[in-house]
Amino acid sequence: MIYDFDKIIVRRGTDSVKWNQQDYEDLIPLWVADMDFPAAQPIVDALAQRVQHAVYGYAKVPEPFYQAVINWFSRRHHFTIQQEWLLPVIGVVPALSALVKAFTEPGDKVLIQEPVYHCFFSSIERNQCEVVSNDLIYRDGQYGIDFEDFEYKASDPKVKLFILCSPHNPAGRVWTRAELERLGEICLRHQVLVISDEIHCDLVFDGHTHIPFGTISPELLAHSITCIAPSKTFNLAGLQVATIVVADPELKKKVQQAFLVNEIASISPFAIAGLTAAYDEGEEWLDQALAYIRANYLYLKGFMAEHLPALQVLPLEGTYLVWVDCAALGISSRKLGELLLTEGHVQVNVGAMYGKGSNDFIRLNIACSRSVLAAGLRRLKAVFSTLLQGGKL
Ligand SMILES: Cc1ncc(COP(=O)(O)O)c(C=O)c1O
Repeated sequence: MIYDFDKIIVRRGTDSVKWNQQDYEDLIPLWVADMDFPAAQPIVDALAQRVQHAVYGYAKVPEPFYQAVINWFSRRHHFTIQQEWLLPVIGVVPALSALVKAFTEPGDKVLIQEPVYHCFFSSIERNQCEVVSNDLIYRDGQYGIDFEDFEYKASDPKVKLFILCSPHNPAGRVWTRAELERLGEICLRHQVLVISDEIHCDLVFDGHTHIPFGTISPELLAHSITCIAPSKTFNLAGLQVATIVVADPELKKKVQQAFLVNEIASISPFAIAGLTAAYDEGEEWLDQALAYIRANYLYLKGFMAEHLPALQVLPLEGTYLVWVDCAALGISSRKLGELLLTEGHVQVNVGAMYGKGSNDFIRLNIACSRSVLAAGLRRLKAVFSTLLQGGKL
């Protein structure tokens, strides 16, 4: 089936966070990470069938759910997962919070790599732990890892966990095997448990390959917890479902207990139907969605090169979230976000929310119809051109 990603589905007035947080009738939202595309038809059909049943009681996760996850990761990522490694949960962020709580004491430290997905901060800090950042190196419009600094920080006995974002939101990096091996080797040596958030693993472009952390070596498989979900891949965030992969039996017992204590292990019948249909029958849709998003990225790059060449659009190796360096404007990202919203009625994510080194950036969600993206970019251009000309808004 050929999907039409140009088609605009009205989301305003449908309880969408992305479209309804602001009161502007003509708002163009290029922020929060969900897509404006309708889901793959087999997912819609599976959900419709579940709705038709009309009885929505508590659900027991059935065998085909696990098999769908196992087959998908085997086929797309060469990650051989066993059913007993899988723990269904209501989301990656609830799982992260439960894991931090389970594997730290108040006052412990958790390692992350800023700039990074903002919920990592809340999951750590709400558990009375301290964020320690191995800041990514930003040089010549590219992000890389400072391994010496990583080793130094990982060697602190107070550091109990490393939360890896792979692929990385918002830097758009798909980490290479060599990078992951080095991080893993350091974590093993210093006994820092790795939580690998791989929620964006299926959204990878241009010859880049996502390497599941658990495939690097048997030691790292046993020394890590991997978070995967169909929510970004198939635009199912509202179904609230993820699976957590824990291969080591002792570690799994602790993780399972943590999920029970935090009451996050019971998923809905719609989550089961949606995830299963997505992984079993969503591949055709995903491949077309990826091609469309890639073309959106090239469109955005072309637009910026032509109209706002002072801004730097970073390479998009993975995710549908484009990181744009606006340092040339000389204005903080919060102020930029505010101006874009109030003057342009276009909503973006401001860099500052992702931690250190991000105050010159904005993050643009390009998983929308090209005409919406084009309209958003025209408004961005209008606001930023005025700023670049030194004009007052
Ligand atoms: C890196 C990362 N992890 C987790 C999430 C959210 O996961 P969930 O909706 O399953 O809690 C997001 C959403 O953007 C994300 O970017």
